[in-house]
Amino acid sequence: MRNATITGWGRSVPQPVVTNDELATVVDTSDEWITTRSGIKERHVSHVQNSDMATLAGKRALAAAGLDPLDIDYIIVATCTPDRQIPSTACYVQAKLGATSAAASDINAGCTGFVYGLSMAQGLIATDAASRVLLIGSERITAYLDLEERSTAVLFGDGAGAVVVEATDEPIGVQSMILGADGTSAEHLTATGLGTEFIGTESRLAVVMDGQEVFKGAVVKMGECTVEAAKRAEWSESDIDLVIPHQANIRIIDAVRRRLGADEEKVYANIHKYGNTSAATIPIALSEALDEGRIEAGDRLILVAFGAGFTWGASAVVWGDRVTPLGTIDEEHPEPTVTGLDIMKQRQAAFR
Ligand code: UT7
Repeated sequence: MRNATITGWGRSVPQPVVTNDELATVVDTSDEWITTRSGIKERHVSHVQNSDMATLAGKRALAAAGLDPLDIDYIIVATCTPDRQIPSTACYVQAKLGATSAAASDINAGCTGFVYGLSMAQGLIATDAASRVLLIGSERITAYLDLEERSTAVLFGDGAGAVVVEATDEPIGVQSMILGADGTSAEHLTATGLGTEFIGTESRLAVVMDGQEVFKGAVVKMGECTVEAAKRAEWSESDIDLVIPHQANIRIIDAVRRRLGADEEKVYANIHKYGNTSAATIPIALSEALDEGRIEAGDRLILVAFGAGFTWGASAVVWGDRVTPLGTIDEEHPEPTVTGLDIMKQRQAAFR
């Protein structure tokens, strides 16, 4: 069987930043509450479309892999905040990249979307349907936030991360994949106001969450999945070099670390800078970990996530030789003309 390995990576986070203190001027909250309950200090708020963030992250991943857009056979965008319901965000990305040889589709598994997407990429490669897949996790989730819902408005941020997944005969790359879902928990984390169910209703666009139910589910499932993914790869827990968990709450990340009995440096965390960027947290974290020299050739990684659905998933990955990008690009998003807080306020005004 052909293995699937990550050969390129990149991220694209929009420039506008909103700190907790700034958010507290429009939401009934405080820096102290957000920091102690979640670990978040600030988040980025996008002034460009989701597909623009996804495309720039994709370009960076392609440059890191030394590939051209025409080398890609399939583009997967993991997102629950598409530019439009039809067509997929992946089709916009395909056009913006000029990746005319690539098929393109989105996947929505909430915050677990990147891990689900990795399983799709692996499957496409294993069955010879594709040799090079561009997998992107990208979210513009601040557009869904209702500033009157303080329990969710402070938790999320925008951004995109991308990887190139390539076929290899080497015994590297994805070693195991654990996926699961529990649709009976759908109401614990959902978005109202968007979707055919709401046509003709007064329902407002908002993320609605029973935080404690989601917290409990995330702690249990992310812990279980991490252990199971390692076991299926025939690793002991002490073999794991770095866990890259979904970034929803520093207390959830700490609980996963405690379950493994691991030191802090074995579990990557950057939630303080970005908040929860849903399907984008893992590829953003992976790309930052590489930039910081936290991943070495041959390292054993666990990527693990939990999200709306409920959905959960984990994958054990043996990293290949490439730990520095083959190439980089200078391109940036256009300079924003408004602040991040103004973008959030304008969005809120449009709700009324
Ligand atoms: O990506 C997957 C999806 N997301 C997650 O995994 C998130 C999972 N859940 C969580 O991270 C946590 O449950 C939260 C951070 C959302 C909430 O933390 P918590 O410790 O579970 O707080 P809580 O919901 O029990 O609320 C405690 C108090 C409540 O007040 P009372 O009833 O004790 O008076 C809330 O009304 O905090 C209040 N509260 C706030 N106060 C200030 C809720 N949101 C806020 C806020 N600022 N933003």
